[in-house]
Parts: sequence; C-alpha cells; structure tokens
Amino acid sequence: MARRAESPAIGAAGGPPVSPLAEIACPDDWHVHFRDGDLLRSVVPETARHFARALVMPNLVPPVASAADASAYRRRILEAVPGGVEFEPLMTLYLTEETDPSDIEAAAVGETATAVKLYPAGATTNSGGGVRNFDLIDPVLEKLAEIGMPLCVHGEVADESVDIFDREAVFLDKVLDPIRRKHPELRVVLEHVTTKEGVDYVSSGGTGIAATITVHHLAINRNAMFSGGMRPHNFCRPVAKREHHREALLSAATGGGEKFFFGTDSAPHLKQHKEAAVACAGIFTATCAVPCLAQIFDDSGAIDRLESFASLNGARFYRVQPNAGKLILEKCESPVGYPDRILAGNDSVAVFDPGFAIRWRARRI
Ligand code: DOR
Ligand code: ZN
Repeated sequence: MARRAESPAIGAAGGPPVSPLAEIACPDDWHVHFRDGDLLRSVVPETARHFARALVMPNLVPPVASAADASAYRRRILEAVPGGVEFEPLMTLYLTEETDPSDIEAAAVGETATAVKLYPAGATTNSGGGVRNFDLIDPVLEKLAEIGMPLCVHGEVADESVDIFDREAVFLDKVLDPIRRKHPELRVVLEHVTTKEGVDYVSSGGTGIAATITVHHLAINRNAMFSGGMRPHNFCRPVAKREHHREALLSAATGGGEKFFFGTDSAPHLKQHKEAAVACAGIFTATCAVPCLAQIFDDSGAIDRLESFASLNGARFYRVQPNAGKLILEKCESPVGYPDRILAGNDSVAVFDPGFAIRWRARRI
C-alpha cells in the first residue's frame, strides 16, 4: 500500500471511485483513548474526521474519576477539535474501590458522564487504580443499575498466572457473570471483545449486555504479533487471539445483530514507547479505522450492514439518536494511501497497518 508520513490529504489517493457513493449516518466510536497534551491535540482531529461522537476512556494519569475531572477533560478535548468540525466527546468515569455512588448519580444527572469504566487493577495501561476486590464496588453497581447508566468493562482478569490468551474467558466466568447475577438490571458493555466465548456470552445474555468490537481485532489474529519478528504495533490488550476467534468477531460484527457495535479502542502511544524492550499495549487506528472497517465489511459481502454496526447499534444501546450528519463512503479503483504515522510533539504515533490494501475512503458531510 502506498503510504505517506505527513500527508494532510488523508485518503486523497485511490483514483476514481468504482462504486456508487454510499451514504450512512455518521459513525460513533464507542471506545477511544485520547490521552492529554500534545498527544491529545494530535489524535483528536484523526477521530473527528470520520466520527461525530466518541466515548472517551478515562485512563489518564491521574485517572478521570470525578465529574469535575470529566468536565475539565472534555473542555481540553473540544479545544483540540479542528474549527468547523462538529464533534461530541462523551465522557466516562474511572471506577475505583473508593468511588462514591452519589458522585456517579450527580454525573449522570448533570450529563457530565455517559458511562463508568471498570478496569481490573493491572489488566492494562494505567489500570493500577482500578478494582482488585469486586465486592467493594457493589454499591456503585447498584446505583448504575438503578439509574440505567452503562458499565463499560475491560474484560480480562489481571492474574498473571492465567494464560494471557485465556484471560477474557476466565473473566467472563469468574468476574462478569457473578456480577451480572448479583445485579441483573445492570447494563454492561463488554469492551473490545476478542473471543468466541465473549461473543457467545453477549449474544445469549439478554438486552442488558452488548459489546464493542475493534477494527484491529477484525483485521488480525495473534500471528500478526509475531510475523517475521516481534511486532509491537500489533500488540494491545486484550491481545488478538486465534483465527477462529477473529472469525467469530467478524460474524458478530457483520451479522446484523443489534448487540455488537464499533468501538475502535484506538490507543495512541509514542513510537519510543512502542518500539521498546517493554512495549506499551495499544494500537492506534483512528486515522484509517472507518475505511479499514469498510474494506473488511466489503470483503465479507456485508457493506450494507456497515451502518448498523458503525452508526446505529451503539446509539440504540446508549439511548441516543443516531447522528444527523452523514458520512460518504466510496470504493476506489486502486488502494487509498493512509499515513503510516502521525506527528505528536517531538515523536510520532504509528498508524495501524491491517496488512491488506484499503480501497475505501470516507468523508463527512
Ligand atoms: O491495548 C490497550 N491499550 N488496551 C487497553 O485496554 C488500554 C489501551 C491504552 O490505554 O493504551
Ligand atoms: Zn481501551
């Protein structure tokens, strides 16, 4: 694929379109990491180019744990949105063992936060302040169930003695299912589901549970982390799994069911922190996420289901209207070039390379 490093004209290549224009309601990204400072200013425009709203993860250092933190962070995000672009950040609060249920209620009433994020302590980037003893969060879960606010869950146990490829399945069994039995009214989003077990659990779990799926987990399996050597830019948490799990995700995303929707988990880390002896977990996809998703749906013969997955199902679960704005998608004769990195301060962030050509380009109208 032709790639350019600092191209302002994202998706400008590709030659003439070969398909009629497809117009869909503008997508939402129901799971994104924006960070702060220089990195925030670099990545927010990448997301705002193709998404009208995004649910912003709270794992800053220190975490976004209160309504006041979320309001201040939201303002910093809005300052990074390019002029003339309509973009709405929806905020999440970081759940700790000390979170006060009345603060959650106040954030919900004031519409400062859309959801609460549960990180098992130690499971991923900046999760140290997360939850070790799940009994301690019962009062918050009761409150969430009462007010109908979703709990977004990083679904992996942090236990190092559990094989890393099994940590999602073990989490479902040992943590999430007991929580849901105790709080049957709790509305849960299993974030970035990566396994067939996860897909089956969500599919059979009633209307109170849904899941986000990332574009990278649809594009790669675990071999991509080791193809010709270690590939830190394909490393994220939860890690990509075997091919049959990727196929289960693909069926869930393209199958037209309402319980699965797009959340990129686009997670920027500076190159110096990815190309290191201990590489940070996270794949930055914002720049090419929507065109790459269109390619995957097209290759599966499901381009007509892209809108449900990217623009409708999540809005329905979160009880908001789909975006009024539209996204034009077009398939091109030749591969469209997306940059291989974006600049951030003195360093850069690598853009996800799915390992296949993307012939789709997108533009908001
Ligand atoms: O790969 C990941 N990166 N998974 C997460 O859950 C967190 C994210 C990050 O913040 O970098
Ligand atoms: Zn994430």
